[in-house]
Amino acid sequence: MIKWGIIGLGNIAWRFVQSIQYADRACIEAIASHNQEKQNKFKAVLHHVKVYDDYETLIRSDVDAIYIALPHGMHYHYAKMALLCHKHVLVEKPSTLSYQDTKELIALAHQNQVFFMEALKTRFIAFNQQIKDEVNKGTIGQVIKVQASFCNDVLDNKRPGWYLLDPIQGGALYDVGPYPISFVMDFLGDKYQSIQSHYRIKEGIDHYFYSELDYGNAKGIVEGAIDENKERMGYIYGTLGRIEIPMYNRPIEYTVYLNDGQSYHYHQDLLFDDMYDEIKKANDGIMNKDDDIQEWSHQDSLSLMKIIEDIKESFH
Ligand SMILES: NC(=O)c1ccc[n+]([C@@H]2O[C@H](COP(=O)([O-])OP(=O)(O)OC[C@H]3O[C@@H](n4cnc5c(N)ncnc54)[C@H](OP(=O)(O)O)[C@@H]3O)[C@@H](O)[C@H]2O)c1
Repeated sequence: MIKWGIIGLGNIAWRFVQSIQYADRACIEAIASHNQEKQNKFKAVLHHVKVYDDYETLIRSDVDAIYIALPHGMHYHYAKMALLCHKHVLVEKPSTLSYQDTKELIALAHQNQVFFMEALKTRFIAFNQQIKDEVNKGTIGQVIKVQASFCNDVLDNKRPGWYLLDPIQGGALYDVGPYPISFVMDFLGDKYQSIQSHYRIKEGIDHYFYSELDYGNAKGIVEGAIDENKERMGYIYGTLGRIEIPMYNRPIEYTVYLNDGQSYHYHQDLLFDDMYDEIKKANDGIMNKDDDIQEWSHQDSLSLMKIIEDIKESFH
């Protein structure tokens, strides 16, 4: 049985708590929260789980694996601490704020012979593989354009000191960028030649970005916002047709439109929820001492950070 500890008891941590109940051979051993009210709420629901009021005590406690559900800018510090304590780590996206920091964490995981993975749950959803197979078998011909958007207006929920509005760790690119970028990586990889961006920066924070990655014979287009709502769609265009995927970050349906007028619609419900497959893969990886998971590998985390850095660079 893998004993998980969770640090930070916010929105995504609660979803992890819900989802892990479907996993075999894994349980929540402890959580850590700085907030007394949240601790009390948690104790009322899950009496058997240990509750700590600081993150370091949990990391040094008798848990096997740590799920880091903190603001982006705190991922590196606590992931490093956990890896140095020989704990397996599942860290929320983005893994850190820089390519170098992510590289260092991966090296530390190797040195300490522990599992390390960024929680990019989209990649683990089984339906995603079906879409990739569809593209790989040539249904839409050669891929010429991949486009994905993740635009949410979250500023209505603005809180004082909120990390999404912090010039260091905030903004759309770090927060929602991993979804469209990993979607483009899925079909075009990470060997683009140049990037051009349009963006809206307010008080040092990117509220919106629209970036075109030029791959020579194909184009990747990624868009994200924290101040504007748009339909969340992923598109893959090929020489013979296109695939449209609503809610591509947790796909349950897609449609293939062929240039000859035919179209096919597919639907498959999620197994339990959109985190189940990711948690299962992390548990399997830890159990089987497979510390670099194929669906979202260490190299994928590095490529994602590199693209984020290149897009940031294109803002100047
Ligand atoms: N994979 C996904 O689908 C997904 C979805 C949403 C978010 N995320 C990622 O998960 C991470 C957390 O996001 P979230 O939506 O859960 O955020 P959130 O609701 O704001 O929770 C973050 C938690 O971090 C802790 N924290 C410590 N210092 C903090 C500070 N200075 N400001 C704010 N919180 C602080 C708090 O926990 P305590 O008060 O309990 O100590 C807080 O509840 C982010 O990196 C985000 O990118 C991933």
